Amino acid sequence: MLNHRDRLLNDLGPFMNLRHSTILLTAIGALCGSNAKIYENADELPSTTFDFVIIGSGAGGNTIANRLTEDPSISVLVLEAGGSNENVLDSEVPFFCPSLAPNTPFDWNFTTSPQTGLNGRPVAFPRGFMFGGSTSINFMAYTRGSMDDFNRFAKISGDSGWSWNSLQPYIRKNERFGPPADNHLTKGQFNPSVHSFTGINSVSLPGFSRPIDEMVLQVTRELPHEFPFNLDMNSGRHIGISWTQGTIKGGTRSSSATSYLGPNFINRRNIHVLLHAHVTRVLQTGTSKSKKSFRRVEFAQRVAGKTGPKRTLTAKKEIILSAGAVGSPTILLHSGIGDSKALSKLGIKTLHNLPTVGQNLIDHPLTPNSWLVNSNDTFETHARDLAIAAADLAQWKMNQTGYLTTPRFSFLGWLRLPKTATIFKRFADPSAGPNTAHIELLISNGLTRAPTSGGNFLGLATGVVSPASRGTLTINSTDPFAPPIIDPGLMSHEFDLFTMREAVRSASRFANSTAFAGYVIGPSGALANVDMSDDESLNQYIRNTTGSLFHPVGTLSMSRRNAKDGAVDPDLLLKGVDGIRVVDASVMPRVPAAHTQAPTYIIAERAADLIKRRWNLRL
Ligand SMILES: Cc1cc2nc3c(=O)[nH]c(=O)nc-3n(C[C@H](O)[C@H](O)[C@H](O)COP(=O)(O)OP(=O)(O)OC[C@H]3O[C@@H](n4cnc5c(N)ncnc54)[C@H](O)[C@@H]3O)c2cc1C
Ligand SMILES: *[C@@H]1O[C@H](CO)[C@@H](O)[C@H](O)[C@H]1NC(C)=O
Ligand SMILES: *[C@@H]1O[C@H](CO)[C@@H](O)[C@H](O)[C@H]1NC(C)=O
Ligand SMILES: *[C@@H]1O[C@H](CO)[C@@H](O)[C@H](O)[C@H]1NC(C)=O
Ligand SMILES: *[C@@H]1O[C@H](CO)[C@@H](O)[C@H](O)[C@H]1NC(C)=O
Ligand SMILES: *[C@@H]1O[C@H](CO)[C@@H](O)[C@H](O)[C@H]1NC(C)=O
Ligand SMILES: *[C@@H]1O[C@H](CO)[C@@H](O)[C@H](O)[C@H]1NC(C)=O
Repeated sequence: MLNHRDRLLNDLGPFMNLRHSTILLTAIGALCGSNAKIYENADELPSTTFDFVIIGSGAGGNTIANRLTEDPSISVLVLEAGGSNENVLDSEVPFFCPSLAPNTPFDWNFTTSPQTGLNGRPVAFPRGFMFGGSTSINFMAYTRGSMDDFNRFAKISGDSGWSWNSLQPYIRKNERFGPPADNHLTKGQFNPSVHSFTGINSVSLPGFSRPIDEMVLQVTRELPHEFPFNLDMNSGRHIGISWTQGTIKGGTRSSSATSYLGPNFINRRNIHVLLHAHVTRVLQTGTSKSKKSFRRVEFAQRVAGKTGPKRTLTAKKEIILSAGAVGSPTILLHSGIGDSKALSKLGIKTLHNLPTVGQNLIDHPLTPNSWLVNSNDTFETHARDLAIAAADLAQWKMNQTGYLTTPRFSFLGWLRLPKTATIFKRFADPSAGPNTAHIELLISNGLTRAPTSGGNFLGLATGVVSPASRGTLTINSTDPFAPPIIDPGLMSHEFDLFTMREAVRSASRFANSTAFAGYVIGPSGALANVDMSDDESLNQYIRNTTGSLFHPVGTLSMSRRNAKDGAVDPDLLLKGVDGIRVVDASVMPRVPAAHTQAPTYIIAERAADLIKRRWNLRL
């Protein structure tokens, strides 16, 4: 049953815009005497026992919190290490997304171990440290991946429920496609038949056109073999160049905090959220059918560098581990769930030997290629010219329109290596299938970070999105607050280096097109010294400049029920123990050829139904 507030909102919903509804909501919330809320201090929690305790408020955690509390008899607590997302302008304004990480109050500030594939450089590895997790700090690209990616999940897990076709209802429950900020006619920019207009997380096309848009479309006509136009990359067949869809509503970021636990839902009486709550361990509470049960969570509040006392809370039904591909395995390792040999070396008592915890870390590498251009209408001018920057912000504040409503990439390209590529003679194709890209081209009207030295740029960053490299996440300390050792193994496999060389060459052909003639002056930075015909020259450029595209997955992979090689079963229950289910990006057994928020939301929507069935909750 809906409470009064929800019912009133449902009635008003279609006619109201979110910004006005927030004020109304506060009033309605007060009238209904709602007692659910977001707490900053654990002393204010109404109880120490909840049906479900969810660790982490990102794409996975907040989706589960919303869906489980549809049943009013169920109580849910979300524990989040970071702080509030309220009034964080950089999180609200899409164009400001690059200023949220790395090394800000909204980031965990992780760095990888020295990467052998990157000439021994450690690279930044940002993860959201805020309500909404990485969905509050990401670049908002909404990309589902290919049908092959999900069909491979189904194959690996032995559960056809993870296939592209089976997941369609969950894609629809997540997505709420809406108009762009400038309300332009979107015909020819997406395929409405593959979208949902009734889900929870808002998605829209760019709300402000960039001067390069026409040139990009012209490249798709000039070089259709290499860069075909694809009306919609979210149809399951993503190959080609498509307009970017972003998790943006009315010119403002739509995160898991503003959507799934936003004003329409947060005042449900059975939802509780505690911020600044760093979970240190899960604790054994007993045994069930010869398996150890874990239903207690240990945490401490950490605010402004001060750590409070350790406290515990209990989950009557399940602990949902949603701390992300870095946070979730880290918590398990500190709890004594992991490789017993490695744990005993550290002096941590093994409660459950599960050597796969933290193994199989997979990420996408990104090489930030750029070209100097003959124009001043690029991101750089909008960052450097303070009068222009102030006018942009004034307009956004006035009515959430204009330049700042759109993040960085108006178009994304998904490309396959040619079938004849020599690398296939030496290695099996790591992509999920023939509809799946090896390469991503991220096309932007300037650089992510404007150089102080001047100049205006075209960004054609390249990613290896079906990588063969694998890495690991381990711990090297018994201090649960110490950062884990993150080794994504970027560019450690020859296939990925080959693919990135071809990606950079592809970007160079894109920039050399007639469409960009007169606009592109030439390659900039380290790229200017690269000889495109020389593999070794490209290798050095790639190893010196590549970083993470911030899509780690796989550290608690799903696998068949009795298989030894994964960490969770197809229902996402942690193998060999009772009481813990994992719902976040760590369960993906392979990285999809996609930015990973949409896949994580989709997995979480199905996981919510699996949990509801298990506990006979209202579906
Ligand atoms: C800078 C950046 C840009 C990105 N850009 C895009 C993009 O444009 N499009 C896209 O699709 N994807 C993007 N991603 C990736 C995407 O945001 C993630 O894949 C997605 O959010 C993963 O969801 P999750 O639930 O697994 O983890 P998260 O969303 O990261 O949530 C995990 C949460 O758990 C909390 N947590 C962790 N450890 C603990 C602990 N010990 N105790 C309590 N809480 C804890 C964290 O603070 C966080 O809030 C980007 C990521 C980053 C970092
Ligand atoms: C990350 O670094 C920033 C800037 O130094 C700091 O303010 C923030 O507290 C750090 N984040 C964490 C989780 O420690
Ligand atoms: C951009 O270039 C145009 C034409 O050359 C010039 O009129 C304008 O002042 C320039 N704008 C900025 C912000 O430099
Ligand atoms: C938003 O504000 C800008 C600048 O004040 C104005 O030009 C524009 O017409 C407004 N748009 C809408 C939709 O109100
Ligand atoms: C792990 O910790 C030990 C002891 O503090 C240190 O000597 C070693 O260099 C660390 N290893 C890594 C990979 O950080
Ligand atoms: C693009 O043009 C430049 C300048 O003519 C050339 O050096 C480069 O090799 C070209 N790129 C490719 C991939 O052919
Ligand atoms: C790569 O980096 C190394 C070490 O900083 C440097 O010596 C070398 O010149 C760089 N090579 C290229 C091609 O940028």
